Amino acid sequence: MNLKKYSLEELLALGIKSEIEAEKVYRMTAERVKNPFLKNRLEGLAKEEDKHREILEELFKKLFPEKELKLPENPEFLPEFPEIKIFHELTTTNDIRTILEKAMVAEKSAEDYYRSISEMVDDEYIKKMMLYMAKIEEGHYKILKNEYEDLQEFEGMMTDMNYAEFDARF
Ligand SMILES: [Fe+2]
Ligand SMILES: [Fe+2]
Repeated sequence: MNLKKYSLEELLALGIKSEIEAEKVYRMTAERVKNPFLKNRLEGLAKEEDKHREILEELFKKLFPEKELKLPENPEFLPEFPEIKIFHELTTTNDIRTILEKAMVAEKSAEDYYRSISEMVDDEYIKKMMLYMAKIEEGHYKILKNEYEDLQEFEGMMTDMNYAEFDARF
């Protein structure tokens, strides 16, 4: 992905925004699902996204100590960052299938984001850290894909087990 039109400062702010929205989606979904295994996985995803936010915020402070971090309020659609809009919209979605499906797309894009930054920076430490985060986002994609495939395959059975049920309201 070519992110050249963005400054590193902008990229970090956009990344932080994306991580905040992602954490929100996974945390809210984890609170709603009843299946303990899925709940655990979603809580794990939320924790990792929160860690990513922290890492990016620290990096921002280190690289731009004079600057104030300004996050985009309402995520507009940016072709290079579909994940911001996807995660933002998913905070108001209740359907587990839609959440898994769209979060998969967002995670792929997040992976691409970190990989692209790693190619832009010269600092070896930041480069490595970005590649490491790209790896984690790839892992998130795989976790979601597994859950999604299980849901497709064992849907009837899992409904009985309250797998995909949020609660009586849905
Ligand atoms: Fe992340
Ligand atoms: Fe992620």
